[in-house]
Amino acid sequence: MMEVGGATESFELVPLAGGIQSLRSLANGQTFHPVVGPRREAETVHLHGTRLVERANAPGDGGGGFVVWDVGLGAAANALAAVEALAAGYRGVGGVRMLSFDHSLGALDFAVAQAAALEYPQAHLAALGTLRETGAVELPLGGGSMLDWRLYLEDFPARLARPETLPAPHAVFYDPYSPTVNPEMWTWETFAALRGRTRMEEPCLLTTYTRSTAVRVTLLLAGWCVGLGGATGEKDETTVAANAPGLLAKPLGRDWLEKKVYASTNAAPLRAGAGPTRGPISEGDFERLRGHPQFG
Ligand SMILES: C[S@@+](CC[C@H](N)C(=O)[O-])C[C@H]1O[C@@H](n2cnc3c(N)ncnc32)[C@H](O)[C@@H]1O
Repeated sequence: MMEVGGATESFELVPLAGGIQSLRSLANGQTFHPVVGPRREAETVHLHGTRLVERANAPGDGGGGFVVWDVGLGAAANALAAVEALAAGYRGVGGVRMLSFDHSLGALDFAVAQAAALEYPQAHLAALGTLRETGAVELPLGGGSMLDWRLYLEDFPARLARPETLPAPHAVFYDPYSPTVNPEMWTWETFAALRGRTRMEEPCLLTTYTRSTAVRVTLLLAGWCVGLGGATGEKDETTVAANAPGLLAKPLGRDWLEKKVYASTNAAPLRAGAGPTRGPISEGDFERLRGHPQFG
C-alpha cells in the first residue's frame, strides 16, 4: 500500500506471458503495459512512435536540445526506456530534457519496492531515488551531453492551465489511465492546452496506447494531426499525433473520416464537464473535422 495525498493507493504484481511481470492498480483494476509488458510497450508505442533517438540526434528537429514530456510517469517504464535508449544512442548536441508529470508517486514507489520482480527499474534505483527526493536528476548521455530529468508532481491539466513557461516538447509520451478512469486527461480542453504548449518551429510527436475513435476525434478537433501507431499487445494499432502535418508516417485519411468516424456510435469528442460521453459525432463537429488541414 502506498500513501498518496492522504489517500491509499495499492498495486499488485501481475504475471504476463514469458515470465514478465507488470503491475495493476487495485483502485481501478487497470494493468500497466498489459500483454507485452513494460519494456516492449514503451519501445513499440513511445520510443518508435516518437522516433525518439533519431529525432533527438537530428539537427533542426530538436537536435539542439531535445525535450520529452512523459505524461503519467506512473511506474517509470516509459521514462526509463527513454533513459536507456538515449544513453546508448544519443549523438546530438545540447542534451535532452525530460519532464515527467504525475499527481501521484504511488506507482513509482511500488515499482522501486518491486524492482527485483519487475526487473526494468533495477539498474536505475539511485536515479529514481534522487528524482523522487529532489525532483530532478542528471544522467550522462554520449559525447559529454546530459539528460536533465525533472519531476512535476501535480494534476497535469492544472499544470497546463498555469501560465508559467515549460520547455516546449518535441516528444510526448501520453500514458494516463483510460478515459473512464481519468476523464480529465482525454478532453478537448486538455489536448488543446497541450497543443498550445508546442511550438510550430519545434516539431512534436505525441504517442498514446489508445486507438479509440473518440480520442482521435478529440485530438484532431484540439488542433493535432493524427495517425496510426504501431501494434502492441491486444491492440493491432495505437495512435501518434503531431503538431504539424507531414510529421506523421501514417496519417489517418479521408477514408477513416468518411467510413469510421461517420459510422461510429462512439465518435463524439470528449469535453470537460460532460463526463464519459459515448455517442455519434454531431454534424457540426463532423464539418469541423472535414475542414481540418489533414483532410484538405
Ligand atoms: C498507466 S499509469 C502510467 C504508466 C507509466 N507511464 C509507466 O511507464 O509506468 C497512469 C498514470 O497517470 C497518472 N495520472 C492520472 N491522472 C493524472 C492527472 N490528472 N494528472 C497527473 N497524472 C495523472 C496516474 O497517477 C498514473 O501514475
